[in-house]
Amino acid sequence: MSAMKTALLGLPVLWLLRRIFFPYLWKDLHFFYRAARYTKYVEDSLKRIPPFLMLDMFYHQVSVRPEKPFIFYHDETHTYKDIDLKSNQLAWALKKYSNLEQGDCVAVFLGNEPAFIWTWLGLAKIGCPMACLNYNIRAKSFLHCFRASRAKVLIAGPELKDAVEEVLPILTEEGVQVYYLSRESPTGGVESLLDKVEAASDQPVPASYRSEVTGESPALYIYTSGTTGLPKAAIISQARLLISSSLSTLSGVTTDDVMYIPLPLYHSAGLMIGVRGCIQQGASIVLRKKFSVSHFWDDCRRYNVTVFQYIGELFRYLCNTPKKDNDKDHCVRLALGNGLRTDVWKEFQERFGNISVFEFYAATEGNAVFFNYIGKVGSIGRSNFLLKLSRPYHLIKYDVEKEEPIRNNSGHCMDAAKGETGLLVAKITEKAEFIGYAGDQSQTEKKKLKDVFQKGDLYFNSGDLLMEDKEGFVYFQDRVGDTFRWKGENVATTEVADVVGMSDFIEEANVYGVVVPFHEGRIGMVSVKLKEGQHFDGEKLYTKVIEYLPNYARPHFVRIQDDIEVTGTFKQRKVDLVKDGFSPLIIRDPLYVLDEKEKTYKPMDLNTYNTILDRKAKL
Ligand SMILES: *[C@@H]1O[C@H](CO)[C@@H](O)[C@H](O)[C@H]1NC(C)=O
Ligand SMILES: *[C@@H]1O[C@H](CO)[C@@H](O)[C@H](O)[C@H]1NC(C)=O
Ligand SMILES: *[C@@H]1O[C@H](CO)[C@@H](O)[C@H](O)[C@H]1NC(C)=O
Repeated sequence: MSAMKTALLGLPVLWLLRRIFFPYLWKDLHFFYRAARYTKYVEDSLKRIPPFLMLDMFYHQVSVRPEKPFIFYHDETHTYKDIDLKSNQLAWALKKYSNLEQGDCVAVFLGNEPAFIWTWLGLAKIGCPMACLNYNIRAKSFLHCFRASRAKVLIAGPELKDAVEEVLPILTEEGVQVYYLSRESPTGGVESLLDKVEAASDQPVPASYRSEVTGESPALYIYTSGTTGLPKAAIISQARLLISSSLSTLSGVTTDDVMYIPLPLYHSAGLMIGVRGCIQQGASIVLRKKFSVSHFWDDCRRYNVTVFQYIGELFRYLCNTPKKDNDKDHCVRLALGNGLRTDVWKEFQERFGNISVFEFYAATEGNAVFFNYIGKVGSIGRSNFLLKLSRPYHLIKYDVEKEEPIRNNSGHCMDAAKGETGLLVAKITEKAEFIGYAGDQSQTEKKKLKDVFQKGDLYFNSGDLLMEDKEGFVYFQDRVGDTFRWKGENVATTEVADVVGMSDFIEEANVYGVVVPFHEGRIGMVSVKLKEGQHFDGEKLYTKVIEYLPNYARPHFVRIQDDIEVTGTFKQRKVDLVKDGFSPLIIRDPLYVLDEKEKTYKPMDLNTYNTILDRKAKL
């Protein structure tokens, strides 16, 4: 009797103890179980002969739901079968007119349109990887990215004609075949492709055309702005492409979902998580030529959107629109993405209704992932002790001033304490591999950190500073070194500094990002030293910046300094500049601000400063 009593009394005590000490235990276990099951599925797919890859999953969906809408695009609806046939036509057209062979890379320079997707699938059918060029890049950056992929063919959107013509002489010299995805070409040396696609057969493409493709074959090249210099082409293998759908699966996307992808398809989020994820589930995609905040909810209602992908900025833009009566009138149930901050997260849910947010952390080329499967506001994910066993990672103590990990007397790195900000590094293993970048091996080596905890060990250096709290929730803090994020894009400071330095009155430029209240990320700012006897010419600088840099990378503020301070290792010092920000109340040096209307950098006054703080300026 008394034993029974004790047991009965004990149960609530146990329950209470678990609540206090392991409040997330079941959710952690459950998530781990699902993640492990998915990993097993991917491993089995790769073991099959021939391996069952992304394209095979697409074929599967075409066979079970041919008439289901795959892509909604403005007034167009493309079913799974439509896209299958269209990609056959692309494959046959390229087979006929280009010199492509299995394994050759094709670069695409296209906007967010169905053609991006059927081109990708068509290329997969003939065993060709695709390099996804960012349609904002131009000139030197363009050539750098294109060459890194060693693409033999370029397929460009006709609306990007000017950018293509700018680099055409060099591409032609290098023997590249260039096509516009249109019915005719206004440019000598560039062929039209759409007419050839439309005239081509839509019969299935034989599997022999891709017979050499394995899990290790490159499937995609996706560009990331690294810590230094020009963008790098991350190599995405077929195996990695296969596993990238784990994000949509684990976040609970199903066949019945309609996913709105407002992110650019040239990034891994839009293509590998969005499109690839929808193919895995047989779900539908909504695309739009150009993202529009004012059309966002109308689009959601029009296409019955249930899931959308985001970056933190998107929530800000949506929250900044005027309130409407029908703000909660939609069937969106899930938002999938990263970079959402606590304040906007709450404001968003209060205003637009009970939409679950599935925040995650993953780098295109990285080997560490976090998932916030609990829905903890503000956190990028959870440090699940079981997941950590399969993909070991650490947050290590980091010296922000010196821009390097702190090492102890024996030369090893040290774990950051709970609640302390540290650099995320993830052990490179067979299961958590880091393939690296195409073209330049030294870039790949630079991302590896050696002798971290033991002599000879090897870690991937994420370049991200994170913090883990006592409960195991992980929070994003900052990026290290020479990049910052603005409008969802990484900006490499050295690349911007090169462009600013092209102006003949500038001796040296130091580029960094500064925080603007109510905005995600950091906006570009440059501190410049003028050449002896020269004066600052805002119009000249403006012209250079507009010509060579995409809008997110253009420095918005300029500070004139007599000297550019360097660190002990002759790196430009940025810490204090970043702290000063762009406030004319703090900075005594001359300050200028980019003015798109006047097409110049004009002196920054208190009035302009206040307009920015009052959220009235367009940044
Ligand atoms: C959205 O749902 C409504 C009501 O169920 C339906 O009538 C309409 O056809 C759907 N729209 C699309 C694009 O599927
Ligand atoms: C919000 O939605 C989730 C599932 O999507 C549900 O479990 C929860 O009860 C809902 N909360 C409110 C306040 O409606
Ligand atoms: C240095 O750090 C490593 C790994 O964190 C640790 O094993 C070692 O004991 C430390 N050595 C000293 C001298 O503190």
